[in-house]
Amino acid sequence: MDKETIIITGGAGFIGSHVVRLFVNKYPETRIVNLDALTYAGNLENLTDIADRPNYSFVKADITDYAAITEVFRQYNPTGVIHLAAESHVDRSITDPFSFVRTNVMGTCNMLHAAKELWKGNYAGKRFYHVSTDEVYGALEKDGTLFTEETRYAPHSPYSASKASSDHFVRAYHDTYGLPTVMSNCSNNYGSHHFPEKLIPLAINNIRHNRPIPVYGKGENVRDWLYVDDHARAIDLIFHNGRDGETYNIGGNNEWTNIDLIRLLCSIMDRKLGRPEGTSAKLITFVTDRAGHDLRYAIDSSKLQRELGWRPSVTFEEGLEKTVDWYLANEEWSDRIISGAYKDYYEKQYGNR
Ligand code: NAD
Ligand code: TYD
Repeated sequence: MDKETIIITGGAGFIGSHVVRLFVNKYPETRIVNLDALTYAGNLENLTDIADRPNYSFVKADITDYAAITEVFRQYNPTGVIHLAAESHVDRSITDPFSFVRTNVMGTCNMLHAAKELWKGNYAGKRFYHVSTDEVYGALEKDGTLFTEETRYAPHSPYSASKASSDHFVRAYHDTYGLPTVMSNCSNNYGSHHFPEKLIPLAINNIRHNRPIPVYGKGENVRDWLYVDDHARAIDLIFHNGRDGETYNIGGNNEWTNIDLIRLLCSIMDRKLGRPEGTSAKLITFVTDRAGHDLRYAIDSSKLQRELGWRPSVTFEEGLEKTVDWYLANEEWSDRIISGAYKDYYEKQYGNR
């Protein structure tokens, strides 16, 4: 019999590469197909350690191209889909909202429809997993309330609006066609292979090069940070054991104001780089706030903990320390993104196709 196949979209990105690595290593009898368009955020250098494994394949395809997606589905005949491909950066969504509608809304509809057409109502052993974000719930006050799975959707940015819309389509395909979907909404991730436009890798890079660390507004916005490997483990658990049609919130119970986080990061960097304490903090520069900047995100993940026994594996201090160690040991990874050299890797590895 053919190997069981799972298609993971967005596997060349930050979280997707951690999910692909976990699945390729943990399930050697399952064929893992990484489907990714390799936008600016896609970097196959994230996966050099598993690229030659017999149960791993990479397919360059764009989820906005329905014909291309149905062809990949026909060729690989997946029983499972884990959908992470998306435009993911809020600031880019403010300058170019249409790209977010195309990829996050239309692209997700294409994925759902291709799965429905392939499986044709024969849903036994099939699963479509949609990876979403806590940003769909909007912004919390600083009052201690958390986002639960029942919190009303109230997105504010074009990014979160496009993710909210994709979530609605996932529910619609479950409720209308019976597609066996499951979904999770996760808080901010951090860890290795994080594209250096996002706060933590951006700050690490800027500290390394003695450049200003831009902090929006007064740095009082709160995010709930989760180590990326803990997110990947949650996705594995939910994909295999979550209930059809359900949503699971994933979060680290780990709220930090941006300014406190940056101060902690500065002090870790000073220690690691052998600089006097306080050196990096001098780089902190308050800049104009992001338009529509959500004040606070914080997740109640008790459903996931209760039903599937998931727990975060590291404290933030441990996770951040490991993260800094990774960026310092892999400076070339960041440098090749900043210089644009990472874009050559695909052609060298796969030729011009
Ligand atoms: P990322 O930007 O690092 O990676 C996105 C990946 O999707 C890239 O490899 C890119 O090439 C690919 N992609 C983009 N458009 C595509 C298209 N049209 N067709 C095929 N592939 C395409 O994103 P990330 O931070 O790893 O986020 C992954 C998913 O997790 C997203 O759905 C995001 O909304 C969600 N999420 C992210 C976070 C976070 O903190 N980063 C938190 C919760 C949820
Ligand atoms: P980001 O990493 O872009 O994630 P998100 O907007 O999805 O939460 O930003 C995390 C927080 O850091 C957010 O409150 C915006 C803030 N931020 C800055 O203060 N400076 C920056 O340069 C960036 C990129 C983000």
